[in-house]
Amino acid sequence: MKTEEDNFMKAFKYYKMIKQQPSIKNVLYVENNISNQIRELPLPSYEKNDNRHSILGLKPLGKWRTYNFKNHPGLVLIRNPFTNLGQRYWIRKCLEEYPRSPNKKNIDIEMRLDDWWRACHASKEIQSKQMKKLRWTTLGYHHNWDTKLYNDDHRTPFPEDLAELSDVVANYLGFTSFRAEAAIVNYYYMKSTLSAHTDHSEVNLEAPLLSFSFGQSAIFLIGGPTKTTAPSAVLLQSGDVMVMSKEARLCYHAVPKIIPCNNATWNEELSTVTECLPNMKYVCDSQKLQARLNLNIDNKEWSDFNNYIKESRINVNVRQVLNENQTSLSSALIT
Ligand code: SIN
Repeated sequence: MKTEEDNFMKAFKYYKMIKQQPSIKNVLYVENNISNQIRELPLPSYEKNDNRHSILGLKPLGKWRTYNFKNHPGLVLIRNPFTNLGQRYWIRKCLEEYPRSPNKKNIDIEMRLDDWWRACHASKEIQSKQMKKLRWTTLGYHHNWDTKLYNDDHRTPFPEDLAELSDVVANYLGFTSFRAEAAIVNYYYMKSTLSAHTDHSEVNLEAPLLSFSFGQSAIFLIGGPTKTTAPSAVLLQSGDVMVMSKEARLCYHAVPKIIPCNNATWNEELSTVTECLPNMKYVCDSQKLQARLNLNIDNKEWSDFNNYIKESRINVNVRQVLNENQTSLSSALIT
């Protein structure tokens, strides 16, 4: 007999079905908010003009559309604030750069590939064996999947561009002291799933978790602090930013299904960025960042990344690990 315990699992198994396609009529998404579960939030007045947006592949902040969920306080969705060229930039970074050593990835235990993307494109054999085996790479404080504890000796520099992007998003939502210190990049193929879990390894559980999705769409389940709560199913589409804060920060969540996206928006109308360079908080060379962003307008440059993302999804979830007054896990106060 099923008990209340199974409510999360029941939903997970339902949406995971392969032989018979699950119905998506109860899946929440902004464009089809039939049950009024999603509410649009007014534009925050204080951060309308962060001029770092365009160089980070973001639309002007005044054009972002932000929502919360009636049944999930603290859960916030920014519906694709990225430009199409911006999506290309971040997809490329997640494939070409973030999996490079010293960042860690799941396939390290099987084969040493310091540059997975390059190795896959230099050898057909490596490509056929390793390309779709990459499931995660970790950045900054590396998540320890066994102990679930972070460690100061298991930390490498956090990517400047991702720290800057996280800063813009966190500021926009009013989390002005957020610092990006750890990230997990998840790679999904059309049959991949991610089982129910909570993210509780961080010392600082007050800071929000920022989750960026690119490529194919996903059904994202979000429940409560235990698996007895029946979850809501939310459609996450390319460019979406899901923020788990406050009550939602420690809720169970999972990805039972990847579904093909309706539009490959990253291949639609593209324009380069030529505005004057803004002052950045983390990125040292904004000229280089702009050049890297603009490079992706060339479809030849983009073609290998396009071949990957047309049948994959990438999720980047960024966390603050430490409390505001800490510089490392072992040190307490900044002097
Ligand atoms: C995660 O919870 O780690 C990833 C969620 C997602 O892929 O959207």
